[in-house]
Amino acid sequence: MTRFTVRTVPAPDRAEQARYDLRTVLGSFELANPVMTASGCAAAGRELNQFFDVAALGAVATKSIMVNPRSGRPTPRMAETSSGMLNSIGLQGPGIAAFLEHDLPWLAEHGATAIVSIAGSSVEEYSELARRLRSAPGVAAIEINISCPNVADRGLVFACDPDAAARVVSEVRGRSAPSVPVFAKLSPDVTDIVSIARACVSAGADGLSMINTTLGMAVDMDTMRPVLAGVTGGLSGPAVKPVAVRCIWAVHAAMPEVPIIGMGGVRSGLDALELILAGASAVAVGTAIFHDPSAPTRVLRELRDALVARGFGSVADAVGHAHRPPEPHPRPGDEDAVDDLETAGAEG
Ligand SMILES: Cc1cc2nc3c(=O)[nH]c(=O)nc-3n(C[C@H](O)[C@H](O)[C@H](O)COP(=O)(O)O)c2cc1C
Repeated sequence: MTRFTVRTVPAPDRAEQARYDLRTVLGSFELANPVMTASGCAAAGRELNQFFDVAALGAVATKSIMVNPRSGRPTPRMAETSSGMLNSIGLQGPGIAAFLEHDLPWLAEHGATAIVSIAGSSVEEYSELARRLRSAPGVAAIEINISCPNVADRGLVFACDPDAAARVVSEVRGRSAPSVPVFAKLSPDVTDIVSIARACVSAGADGLSMINTTLGMAVDMDTMRPVLAGVTGGLSGPAVKPVAVRCIWAVHAAMPEVPIIGMGGVRSGLDALELILAGASAVAVGTAIFHDPSAPTRVLRELRDALVARGFGSVADAVGHAHRPPEPHPRPGDEDAVDDLETAGAEG
């Protein structure tokens, strides 16, 4: 008779954890481990390096860079809400020339794997950025932030239109070094994220990052006016994790072969594992960094513990695990289910 036992998560074995190989593979892009910073939450890594060695992360995704320097949107442009953060920074940054002169060499000198995030307000601007990055040493991958308004199309956000998203991806893929993987970063603010994902992959994206922030707004109860000068902003943090899980799940179900970098509300190793089980092969930590600058390395340690405790032999074993049919493990206290399963086992 087969006995079915209630599964519990055993205490971590420290020796096994120390040996655990955390490498993860995203198509042709191999990372030493699956935890990275999310774009815009750690600039180009310098500040974080005071707290831990940025080379210890799988990668550092840099703040989205544009062709020209930008001062961003008016203040106030960040606000805390009960379950997440609103920001309307508006892609403040030094522009590509300063980035190539100062930030990219700094990341290379410090041994970090650099994922360079780019943003533009026209297809031509993305194209120019890809051209400038092509000859720059130290670009491990490019992440295309397509959550930007397209000035040539009444400000319609590229990420909200499959054709516009595809045009940007095709241009960047065509202009970039063939050996450098290109990830398209998707917005959750669409009706059908799978159709946008398909358009990006058909246009040449080697992988997808998801999710960017989702639009939100808060009203100040003293002034009774919008909190943010820009009125609306991107919501991030714990509130968006279920949205990220849903998007990753849907895209992985539709295109299981396409590598996904997951982000959205990751604060712990278990949060990271949740995105991996839904289909992500790597996970980025964003908002959590603002109140815990060491969050990425802590998340990495906790993720390793969580993988070991659940018996996963590698990160790849866990990727998309939630899509597999459940094993017949009853819930604790479900005595009838145990009896039923024992009977079923005896008959089998
Ligand atoms: C202050 C701030 C700035 C951000 N800037 C960028 C950016 O420049 N480019 C980008 O692609 N995403 C940007 N994001 C989005 C994050 O990379 C991430 O996709 C999102 O915040 C969800 O992850 P989180 O909940 O862990 O923060 C920014 C987020 C925050 C909070």
